[in-house]
Amino acid sequence: MLTCFNGSLARLTATKHYTVDGWTVHHYPVAASTNLLAANLPAWSAVCADVQTSGRGRFQRRWVSDKGGLWLSAVIPVDANRSSAQALPFVVGLAVCDTLREMTVNGLRMRWPNDVLIENRKLAGLLLDQFSPGLAVAGTGINVFNEPETADTKLRGQTVRLADLLSSPPELSELTAHVLGHVRRALAELERLGFQSLLPRLNALWGTARKVELDLDGQLRRGVFTGIDQSGRLLLVDESGAEVRYAAQQVRHLQEI
Ligand code: BTN
Repeated sequence: MLTCFNGSLARLTATKHYTVDGWTVHHYPVAASTNLLAANLPAWSAVCADVQTSGRGRFQRRWVSDKGGLWLSAVIPVDANRSSAQALPFVVGLAVCDTLREMTVNGLRMRWPNDVLIENRKLAGLLLDQFSPGLAVAGTGINVFNEPETADTKLRGQTVRLADLLSSPPELSELTAHVLGHVRRALAELERLGFQSLLPRLNALWGTARKVELDLDGQLRRGVFTGIDQSGRLLLVDESGAEVRYAAQQVRHLQEI
């Protein structure tokens, strides 16, 4: 089903191809989902679209992808046998935050694993897919000039856009180049120096310790989220005061309470 869907989409032609920081970028006016279009592309390809008609969020949610936002997917080589594979969702989140900070966005924080927020409003979200062995697709959505709360009134009060935060938000092509550049550099740092090199910057992005409820595949656990460790495990101080560590695969969902 997925292959067929994606195959038919792949027949749509990209209007532009260009290279930036070692990435080959394919730009489409409309895509169902840039992650699906990226599924058959080689490493260091990227797909962006002006509009996504079936933008995909985490937990099978719909991701509102109206015109004016950045909808971008990057194809990244991964070695499943290496610990750096576990770090990928965090490293891409960090790269997105580095980009936004470079653009002078203040007050950014991350919510585990990689939602990018200003206070409690969502500025950017990431969805990592693996469609084929050895390649991950990292999809990034950033609200820029788009109007998600007009496109879907259920989102009222839950989103924020760069246009709300900056007097002159970047053009989408400029933002694309910066995100891809930061992803490339963060991956190079991961490869060269390991996850521990990126960890302090990442852990600084979670903000103040927050009370959370974890869904561990149906089992709920409450406590205070304090960050992640060198192996990418989530650190929780539980209600008895003990520190517990959970591998990312064990945690279906984290809700701030
Ligand atoms: C989330 O926070 O739920 C993740 C949202 C991810 C959205 C991006 S937009 C580009 C890429 N294509 C998709 O269909 N989804 C991701």
